[in-house]
Formats: sequence, C-alpha cells, structure tokens
Amino acid sequence: MTEAHSLVLEAVTKVFETPEGRLVTAVDHVSLTIGQGEFVTLLGPSGCGKTTTLRLIAGFEFPNSGRILLDGKDIAHTPPNKREMAMVFQSYALFPHLTVFENIAYGLQLRRKSKAEITRIVHEMMELVNLTGLEHRRPTALSGGQQQRVALARAMAVQPKVLLFDEPLSNLDAKLRVALRSEIRQLQKRLGITSVYVTHDQAEAMSLSDRIVVMNNGRVEQVSTPAALYTRPATRFVADFIGRANFINVQVSAVRDGHALIHLWGHEMAVPAHEAVRPGPATLMLRPEAIRASRDGGECCGCFTGRVRSATILGNSMEYEIETHGQAISVSDTSTIWGGMLAEGDAIRWDFAPERGFVMPPEHQG
Ligand SMILES: Nc1ncnc2c1ncn2[C@@H]1O[C@H](COP(=O)(O)OP(=O)(O)O)[C@@H](O)[C@H]1O
Ligand SMILES: [Mg+2]
Repeated sequence: MTEAHSLVLEAVTKVFETPEGRLVTAVDHVSLTIGQGEFVTLLGPSGCGKTTTLRLIAGFEFPNSGRILLDGKDIAHTPPNKREMAMVFQSYALFPHLTVFENIAYGLQLRRKSKAEITRIVHEMMELVNLTGLEHRRPTALSGGQQQRVALARAMAVQPKVLLFDEPLSNLDAKLRVALRSEIRQLQKRLGITSVYVTHDQAEAMSLSDRIVVMNNGRVEQVSTPAALYTRPATRFVADFIGRANFINVQVSAVRDGHALIHLWGHEMAVPAHEAVRPGPATLMLRPEAIRASRDGGECCGCFTGRVRSATILGNSMEYEIETHGQAISVSDTSTIWGGMLAEGDAIRWDFAPERGFVMPPEHQG
C-alpha cells in the first residue's frame, strides 16, 4: 500500500517507581532492529516487559535512557500522536456509542480527511477484515472476533508507519484465535506494514512472525526466526519457553564448523553447537521428538540404553518418560502409536540424529 518503515531500539531502558517507592526495571537495555515491512513479536512470560516495550514504541511511555529510531530519526520523546503508529489492544477499546463505520473513521476524522475519502477508506478496510454490511452496528451487537476486526480496521485505516498489537487475541476462544491470527498475518503481508506484536503464547508467536524476540526480566534473551528459535535456542530459558526440552550434561572436546564434538555415556558425536560453546562442560538440548526409542532386542539400533518409566497416549503421539544413565528424559514419538508401542518397565535403546540436537554453553547463574 505505502512504503514500509524501519524501527530501531537502542539500549532502551524504562524504570518505574512503585507506589511504595520501589524501583522496577521493566525494560532493561533492549536493543532491536525491525526491518521495513517486518513482523516482529515480543514473546515472554507475564511481567517480562513486553507491554512496556510496546508502549515505549507507541509513545505512551518515555524511556529513562536509550533511543528509538523510526526511519533513522529519534522519536523516543515524541508524543504518541506525532509518531504515526496505531495500536490494537486485547480489550478492543472500541467506542461503544459509535457505529462500526464511525469507529473505523475516527482516526481519519482526526486527520481531517474529506468525507469522500473517509467513506472510501472505511469501506476498503471493512472489506479487508470481512466486515462488509456491518457498518451501522454498534460494538455491543458484535461478537468478540468481529469487535477485534473493527479494532484492526480502525488501526490500519490511518495507514500507520508501524502497527502495534498487545495480545489482541487473548480474549477470544481457541478456534477463533487461530483463525484470526492467520487473517492478521495475511493482511500484514499484503499491506507490508511494519508490525510489532506482543504475546505470551508461543504458538501464536511462531505462526505469525518473521522474527521473535524472547524477553525475560526486561531483557532480550534471543532474537531469531521461529524455526531457529526452536532448533537453536540460545539459552535454557528460551528452550523451555518455546516447547519442551531435555537437558543433558556433556563434555565437549573440540569445536569445529559450528559443531561440538561431545562425549556422552561412552559415545562420541558431532552436534550443532551455539557459537559460545567451548571445550569443557556444556549442555546438550534434545527436543522430545528428536529422540528415537525402541524395545531392546528388537530391530533397534540405538546406542544408549534405558527403561520406560511411563507411557502416555495422546492420539497424535506417544509420550514416554525414560530413565537413562540415572536421568529422566521425555520422548515424543509418532510412530510407535501405529505398532511397537512401548510399555512401562520395558528395556529400550534410544538415540537421536546428531543434527537434531543442540549444544549450549553451561548455564551460568546470576
Ligand atoms: N506503571 C507501572 N508502574 C510500576 N510498575 C510497572 C508499571 N507498568 C509495568 N510495571 C512493571 O514492569 C514490569 C513489566 O510489565 P509489563 O511490561 O506490563 O510486562 P508484560 O507485558 O510482559 O506482562 C512488571 O514487573 C510490571 O509490574
Ligand atoms: Mg502485557
């Protein structure tokens, strides 16, 4: 629709003072570059600083230090109405006394657009979000999903340079959430609007984003594509937050070509490794579905031995807890449900394709 804009955060920090006089660092030296037309999601547990970061971008809060650059120009202390951004909230925040048409037209009227142009844009937006025919309804006569579509149309109508979303789907039921998130993604791609989205839902973040920023305690833990975040998490926090993971202590004897040579219970193998991994102790991360397990003595070829502690049928997969070398690991398997199901107490062998493991630096506390 229009040319896209870039957004850069440089060491942005926001400290709040609580009513009791305590200082809370909500956002702690956050640096981030968001490209033109990119869809970036801030993901993390409640209280990690996502909303505050978004409000700093929008101008509802001002940072204590750091810069926020829109197309290279520092806007960190520019008032929100001068930033040409629009935000979609969890609570929809529609005007209850205005019709759908009037809600969507609101920002255009503030910008003193002509009547003809307002009508044209509102109808275009209503068509984009599949609301055609509902222009005279009031928000109370709409479903939650329809209300959020109105909010989305209202935000897009003003052709913002950056579109901001704060958990916009959290009030909707699960099916609608999935439907609406793919609509948002398609619209954003089609319009090419630079977007920053906040959620605590990892599946939502994965399915929507070009890149995900995982936040923890006001800080950025990792910025990656969804696939890289899952297969190459930089920290245990990220590995745990995005899906499930087993962590196994290993010794690294050498690092070469992005791989670490690890020693694990008498076996040696080259496994993809984080760039900070050095010879010495390290942590091997294995996703439950990266592990292959089968009954000992069968057609199995796994090099590690173990015993099944529990077996759970989920339908699309089998979930096993396995005891191996004094450690419990989780295995998620989609093949044994069709035959060769393992049972509690079974002696097994297991292994994994080295390319599906990931070696991380040992976790340092503090
Ligand atoms: N206005 C405020 N005054 C004091 N503390 C705040 C204020 N806003 C947010 N915080 C604190 O900052 C931290 C981050 O909050 P927030 O950005 O809302 O997290 P999230 O959106 O990730 O759940 C929390 O500890 C929260 O309690
Ligand atoms: Mg929040």
